[in-house]
Parts: sequence; C-alpha cells; structure tokens
Amino acid sequence: MTDPGKASGAAPAPSARVDGAAQQPADRAAGAPAADGASRSLPLPGPPYGSTTPEHDRRIRSYVLRQGRITNAQQRAHDALLPQFGVPYRAGLLDAHDVFGRTAPLIMEIGFGMGEGTAQIAQAHPENDYLGIEVHNPGVGSLLDRIGRLALTNVRIVQHDAVEVVRDMIAPDRLAGVHVFFPDPWHKKRHHKRRLLQAPFVSLLASRIAPGGYLHVATDWADYAQQVLAVLGAEPLLVNTVEQYAPRPAYRPLTRFEQRGVRLGHEVFDLVFRRRAAAA
Ligand SMILES: C[S@@+](CC[C@H](N)C(=O)[O-])C[C@H]1O[C@@H](n2cnc3c(N)ncnc32)[C@H](O)[C@@H]1O
Repeated sequence: MTDPGKASGAAPAPSARVDGAAQQPADRAAGAPAADGASRSLPLPGPPYGSTTPEHDRRIRSYVLRQGRITNAQQRAHDALLPQFGVPYRAGLLDAHDVFGRTAPLIMEIGFGMGEGTAQIAQAHPENDYLGIEVHNPGVGSLLDRIGRLALTNVRIVQHDAVEVVRDMIAPDRLAGVHVFFPDPWHKKRHHKRRLLQAPFVSLLASRIAPGGYLHVATDWADYAQQVLAVLGAEPLLVNTVEQYAPRPAYRPLTRFEQRGVRLGHEVFDLVFRRRAAAA
C-alpha cells in the first residue's frame, strides 16, 4: 500500500539541500520554530502554488513546543546529522531529486514523533523516499539517530510546521503518499480547533498528492476518526479506498503512541484515501 514505484537506482546524495540553498541548521532557518516552550500560532497566508481559499488565512496551532528532555544520543545526532539529512524550511519548492540524489516515489510523513515507525518503513521500502516533518527537537534527534544507526539513505527531515512546509515547499501533484499517524488528538472540545486535519488543510494536502497517490491517517481517538472520515469524505480530490475504516496496512508498524492507546483500551482507526485524477 506504499505504492512502491520504480526508483532510478542512482545513489542518494550525501547531503540534503533545497533548490541549491545554502545548508543551515533548520532551527536557524527563516521562520523555524524555536524550542522555547511557547505555543505557536502560525500565520497561513494564501499558498503561492494554487489551492488558495480564504480559509488558508486561518491559523492552526496543532502543536505546543515544550523544551522537553533530549537525550545525549538525540542531541549528538541532531548536531551531527541534521546538516546532512535535514532540509531547511524555506518558501521555495523542494527539489526532491536534488535532495535525495535520485528520482523515486516521495512519501511525506507529518508529525513522525520519535521516528521509530518512519525508520522502520523507510528501511523496509528502500525503493521510496521519505520526507518526515516534525517540530519537536527530541523527536528529530531520535529519527536522525535511527537514520545514522540503520544507515538509511532514503529519509530527509524538515523541522518545521507541516502546514507551511506543505504550502510552500511541495508542488501540486507531487507526492506519492502522505502518512499522518496518530496526530495530536486535542481531545477537549474547546481544543478541537487545534486539530491538524481540518477541511482547509486537507484540501491543501490533497492538492499536493499525485493522482492515484494516497493519504493514510491513523488515530486511536474515535471522535477524531469520525471527524477525519467526514472531512476526507467531503474533499472532492479524495476518494475512500474502502467503505469507512481500512484494515491496518501491513507497512504501518505499531508506534509507542498506538501501544499506549491500545493499553488504554482505544480502538485504532486507519483511513486510507486516494487522490482522484481531477475534482468530481
Ligand atoms: C501524538 S504525536 C504522534 C507521533 C508519531 N506519528 C507516532 O505515531 O508515534 C504527534 C506529533 O505531531 C507533531 N506535530 C503536530 N503538529 C505538527 C505540525 N503542524 N507540524 C509538524 N509536526 C507536528 C507533534 O510534535 C508530535 O510529535
């Protein structure tokens, strides 16, 4: 279900760059979030590449940046490997061929957490390239540590708000797939507005998926699953691959968030939608 396509077979580039931009740590890139414990409110001016609706002007505060504890290994990996595997955020389209050093199906993961699932999937599917988006320092350090230990060549990281990355760096019809596994549920009713998967962002995201590509969301919060089912179902560019919820695709490993949910007695819901060729 990862839609493995055919890779060019060319060797991956040793460093990750965007459209020839000078390499710099993501936390020093323009607009990059600082780990200062502040809750972030990101302005969403109209996207420069299509899908412009006034609703994109709304702000989604889907995450809170806490200082958090970073282990020595995560910090070491962050310092040593971000220059190689990090792609600084910038308001310019990502050149995936330049970044990965080859042409391969590009799958984006939003909010990879500690990256254990990302690393497992990337290792199991060397034919695909994976672009992980995450704001949290320990998580980015953790995935970089896994990339180093597993010698993965098909993963790159943008440490920045996913809404801005999708809007500014991803061209329309570009992605073979998108993974959003266990997005923050913001389960209190008054916080529902902070949920990432709402109609304006879903519409933007769908426009970045290639016709035939897929959007896979998993959550262990039943009411969020229902909301996502409704929002994805109402998006003209997307069509459900099944009646409602899909069986867990074999490529999706269990992550610690999922294990915690299962321990709490939560059911897990997978939603797998396809991008249509054109709006119905
Ligand atoms: C509940 S965790 C799930 C992590 C992982 N997918 C898993 O299943 O273990 C959600 C993650 O999404 C990240 N996140 C939330 N909103 C984000 C945004 N707008 N851009 C990038 N990352 C975001 C958070 O930092 C957090 O690590």
